[in-house]
Amino acid sequence: MASTANERFDLTDSTTRARLLPHCRLRSGDIWQDPVRGHVVGCGDAADRSFIHALCESVPPATLALHDPPYNMVMGEKRSPEAFADWCRQWVAHSYAYMAENSSLYIWLGADQNNHFQPLPQFMLMMAQTAFASRSFITMRNQRGYGTQSNWMAVRQELLYYTKGQPLFKVQYTDIPKILRGYYKEVNGERTENLERSRSDTIRAGNVWVDVQQVFYRMEENVAGCYAQKPLKAIERILLASSHEGDTVLDFFAHAGTTLLAAERLGRRCVTCDIDPIFAELSIRRLEHFRETGRMGWGRSRPFELHLTHLRKKKLGPPMIVAAER
Ligand SMILES: C[S@@+](CC[C@H](N)C(=O)[O-])C[C@H]1O[C@@H](n2cnc3c(N)ncnc32)[C@H](O)[C@@H]1O
Repeated sequence: MASTANERFDLTDSTTRARLLPHCRLRSGDIWQDPVRGHVVGCGDAADRSFIHALCESVPPATLALHDPPYNMVMGEKRSPEAFADWCRQWVAHSYAYMAENSSLYIWLGADQNNHFQPLPQFMLMMAQTAFASRSFITMRNQRGYGTQSNWMAVRQELLYYTKGQPLFKVQYTDIPKILRGYYKEVNGERTENLERSRSDTIRAGNVWVDVQQVFYRMEENVAGCYAQKPLKAIERILLASSHEGDTVLDFFAHAGTTLLAAERLGRRCVTCDIDPIFAELSIRRLEHFRETGRMGWGRSRPFELHLTHLRKKKLGPPMIVAAER
């Protein structure tokens, strides 16, 4: 099997981490303020109330929060689904505190089919005790799946949509052309066909997304080493549906900085953090790389190596060491 950039560049490997960590700009508790567009990137724990306060205090309340927590793994440690839901209760409350009166909350979550779909049911029950209203349960289809010949292949990712107050919602359209005919309806005494009545030639995005390409190493937006990167298209769809230009968008689990990049491209201000200094650094570098090159990621290349060359040339900052040998 061909090896991928992600396979060779493992950010969970202790040797790689030991070499990269001294070169990350943020330490635990640090917060970086973007001098260009006002984004905020921190390194810290989403469940730490004083850290989240420091992260969010200087920006207007968010109209959109978009969180993608580790699925029942808190820094590599597996917890009971109940303990996971309790942990989620904390950062959901912190999110609520910095969201506008009328705002939207989206949360990506996994469901273990071999273990009663945990922690999805526990999470949903926890959310039922909050002030958020449930609005939609979206499924995004992956192109690659996992599973054996004796079960349905697992290709889904779950996305829960909740609201606080009465936020905006702008209908979004996919790139899929409408081909279904025969849905006739009388309008002003005339029989009209489905396509004549519709606002778009393409299908409206519903709560099953089949048109989003899962990120893989050949795509420009790939960030090597980011094992849980979400597709930019999915994140941008959410930003377009549930925020205006200039709005604040929260994401407490930055990883590859996908929400940060989407916010930059769509004129929103992103407030984001990651508990891991390497992912906080990567998020800032992805933003800087986009501003310098217009590229959404590094494809098959390694983010730190290319950036190192650039930093050295421009003398912009401390050099980032190259990761461990292949
Ligand atoms: C599923 S990934 C997020 C993926 C992201 N949406 C993207 O597109 O790249 C989860 C991230 O949460 C971070 N994380 C884990 N525990 C955390 C905590 N307590 N506070 C903040 N970040 C945490 C991990 O380091 C990881 O980078």
